[in-house]
Parts: sequence; structure tokens; C-alpha cells
Amino acid sequence: MSSIEVIFHGHSFFEIVIEQRSILIDPFITWNTSCDVRIEDICKKNIIAILVTHGHKDHTGDTVTIKTLLPDVPVYTVTGVAHYFSSQGLTNCFWASIGGTMHHDCFSVKFVIAHHDGSIEDSWLYTQPSGILIKIGNKTIYHVGDSALTKDFELIGEYEKTDLLCIPIWWHYTMDVDDAIRACKMIKARFVVPMHYSHSGKLFADDQDFARRVMLDNLGVPKVLKAGQMIVI
Ligand code: NI
Ligand code: MN
Repeated sequence: MSSIEVIFHGHSFFEIVIEQRSILIDPFITWNTSCDVRIEDICKKNIIAILVTHGHKDHTGDTVTIKTLLPDVPVYTVTGVAHYFSSQGLTNCFWASIGGTMHHDCFSVKFVIAHHDGSIEDSWLYTQPSGILIKIGNKTIYHVGDSALTKDFELIGEYEKTDLLCIPIWWHYTMDVDDAIRACKMIKARFVVPMHYSHSGKLFADDQDFARRVMLDNLGVPKVLKAGQMIVI
């Protein structure tokens, strides 16, 4: 397996590139003020799958629009979100329960616990939100979704060798920096990328403080990415 590129597109939107094939995670573009790509640009890529952690609009993002343009691309997500997408007329939406794994030809995706709100877009529907463990060859990427701090991270740290951890630090909605540091201690990843936060204003979160503490506590190599930047694992 050659190296894997992981491109950050702002908020919780990541693109994993394996030999010119792209996997999108939480493709939030239209209302994502920090996003560096347009839907047209993304749809020109060879997208092989879309993964969605939970039903909030900043995570379902532009999945419906992308799928309208590229109906054959499979979506992998948790039960309620898949049913919601199907109700919107989308095909090829696959779901697993929390703890479940689905296999694609070149990767697998396992949905793990995220402690968060489970509402779906503007509806009264509700489902279990998730974090996603993606395995590609011998590499593991753990996208935490919007989780709060939980001891479940300790369990994952015990059995999983995480190469890249994408972790939220937006204190009003998810873990704050203190909790994210506690999570990093449990997960023990090789590279750590903060996500899902504001860089300015009242809801500002301090990514540099987070990175400094990851480094000082020896919790992996911190990478603060701007939208459009990537990490190779
Ligand atoms: Ni959320
Ligand atoms: Mn969110």
C-alpha cells in the first residue's frame, strides 16, 4: 500500500486519497465558511465513498447534492442517517449499527460510540451519532465525529493503533481543549489533527494551545491544518 493523503477541507470535512481515489468524510461545503473547495471541484474527483458521522447539517453537509450528481457513489453511515438519506431519494446508502463494520474493496469502516446529540437535520428523527474508524491496508484513521469525552476512547486506545486522529475541540458543541487532551491520552495516535472549531469570534477555540499540549505531553505529532492542507500517513 502506498502512502495515504488526507486533505482537510475545513470543519470536519476530510478527504482521504488513495491512489487518486477519494473517500469523503462529512462533506460540508455550501455553508462551511472555511471550506476551500466547491461541489463542482469535488465531484470531478474519483469519489469512491462518502462517510457521514451523524445527522447534523454540518456533517451531512452536501451529501444529498453530491449524490444527486454522482448517484452510484456509496454512502456509509449510521442507521438513522442512512434511512433519512433514503427518504430523500438517495440510493446506495448503507448503514451499520454502532460497533458494526462495513467493507469496501480497499477500506473498511467501523462505527464507534460518539457521545453527542443524535437529531437529524431539521427533522424530529433521532439516531445514534458515531465516530468512524477507517482502515486502509495497515493504516487506521479515527475521525471522532462530534463526541464529548468518554472512557470509550480508552478501549479504542487499547485495541487500535491509530495513525491519524481527527478530533473536535469546539468547547460549546464537543470536547474542549482540556477534554481533547484527555482523549488523546487514551487514544494514543501517531498524528493528531484538531477539527470542528472556530478560529475567531466568541466561539474561538485555541488550536495552537491544543497542538502545544499534544507535543508537550508526547501524545503524538500535532498537525494544525488549514483548509486545503494535507497530511501524508
Ligand atoms: Ni453535531
Ligand atoms: Mn458538528
